[in-house]
Amino acid sequence: MPSLVVVGAQWGDEGKGKVTDLLAERADAVIRFQGGNNAGHTIIRGDEEPWKLHLIPSGILHPGKLCVIGNGVVIDPRVLTEEIDALRARGVDMGGLRVSANAHLIMPYHLLLDSAGEQKLGEQQIGTTRRGIGPCYADKAARLGIRVQDLLDEKILKQKIAAAMEPKRLALRPHAKDPSLDLHAMTEQYLTYGHRLEQHIADTSRLVWDLLDAGRLVIFEGAQGALLDIDHGTYPFVTSSNPVSAAACIGAGIGPKDIDEVWGITKAYATRVGSGPFPTELHDSLGDRLRSAGGEYGTTTGRARRVGWLDLVALRYASRINSLTALVVTKLDVLSGLDRLLVCTRYRGAEGAEFDHFPYHQSVLHHASAEYVELEGWSEDLSECRTAADLPAAARDYLAYIAEMLGVPVALVSVGPGQDQVIWTGQGAAERLAVAT
Ligand code: GDP
Ligand code: IMO
Ligand code: MG
Repeated sequence: MPSLVVVGAQWGDEGKGKVTDLLAERADAVIRFQGGNNAGHTIIRGDEEPWKLHLIPSGILHPGKLCVIGNGVVIDPRVLTEEIDALRARGVDMGGLRVSANAHLIMPYHLLLDSAGEQKLGEQQIGTTRRGIGPCYADKAARLGIRVQDLLDEKILKQKIAAAMEPKRLALRPHAKDPSLDLHAMTEQYLTYGHRLEQHIADTSRLVWDLLDAGRLVIFEGAQGALLDIDHGTYPFVTSSNPVSAAACIGAGIGPKDIDEVWGITKAYATRVGSGPFPTELHDSLGDRLRSAGGEYGTTTGRARRVGWLDLVALRYASRINSLTALVVTKLDVLSGLDRLLVCTRYRGAEGAEFDHFPYHQSVLHHASAEYVELEGWSEDLSECRTAADLPAAARDYLAYIAEMLGVPVALVSVGPGQDQVIWTGQGAAERLAVAT
């Protein structure tokens, strides 16, 4: 100990990559514990070309840190090897990268099934990233998954691929001629990935235990966000893993008592990519303005993100299901120039019912409309603010309102994409963890 879990408190893309990179400076290890390359985590450092990470933990830019892809992650080995190559080509030391031997692999048929599933759903489609995430987790649950360790044994690999493809024969029939589905070619290809990755494959839980036992700071980096959680999110418009903090235990191989702090990352407004309920969504020119000011286009798929006001009903729920100990509010700079800011504090259902709590029922949620309180906006550019005192009073009030409504302190505020564009508030766990700068 200590250990800190970074989670998305909304629908993803809250700035987890930036925050993890920042915290990693003081940490000994960063562990990804769920999701796959549906994630896109951006790190901006000075004038350098943006760093976009999909599978490799956002601590990799700090030389000498252990960076673990945990057992709970689903790995497309083509994407992972390309990501390793691209980082190496930019001079990044990959010596600290470790990949759990127990993590599951995304196979070519998972990619085809993801796209086919979406096509079949038509207008009801989830809007997945089509990276094969859902079908891979489905195979894991069905005990038909191929794991990283299987890459190191040709016979086992071939047998397992054949067994996994057998029940999918009907669904894959339209792709019968697809060369990527040929058993022999697939086995050869995946063995090649195995050779490439072998030096990184490890019993990663043990590495994490050793660091925790030695009292080192370990960061667990979540992907996606609370409302995309397969159990607690807006099912079925969710991802196929658990982005909540408890999944750090399962996806890294630790117990709940190993976690000291859980930081929920939220934008100062809300966004969502893909389909599904979004009660505070803005469909007007104000939404367009926020999308453009915030650069709200997906890191992974380039899709325009849906944009809306901050939703405290959803955030309160996210706080509870994650046991948040602190909040990080990002993109506060994007709200500059608006006279008034709306914040959702309650939903109203189709028949006029009021909801202070996030409704569990899908049809209630789909018909919920947001009720707002109005807060004062500010006109100042925040991008150069580095202390809370630098912020306009209205911005400070906005943050104070969020913290009070959620009962969770704001530890860190982000006022621009750059690594230095942050304000440590002196609240929350920052001092205890000695991460404040
Ligand atoms: P993640 O998936 O949670 O890591 O977030 P993404 O990287 O997908 O999306 C966040 C985007 O916002 C990235 O392009 C970041 O560079 C950018 N960003 C992060 N924090 C801030 C901020 O405080 N202000 C602005 N304007 N951009 C930010
Ligand atoms: P990061 O880690 C935002 C969304 C997809 C879709 C749903 C299911 O960058 O925050 P999937 O491919 O996972 O089966 O898609 O989840 N989604 C994300 N949205 N940020 C992400 O990751 C996401 N990962 C998946 O858009 O709505
Ligand atoms: Mg992202």
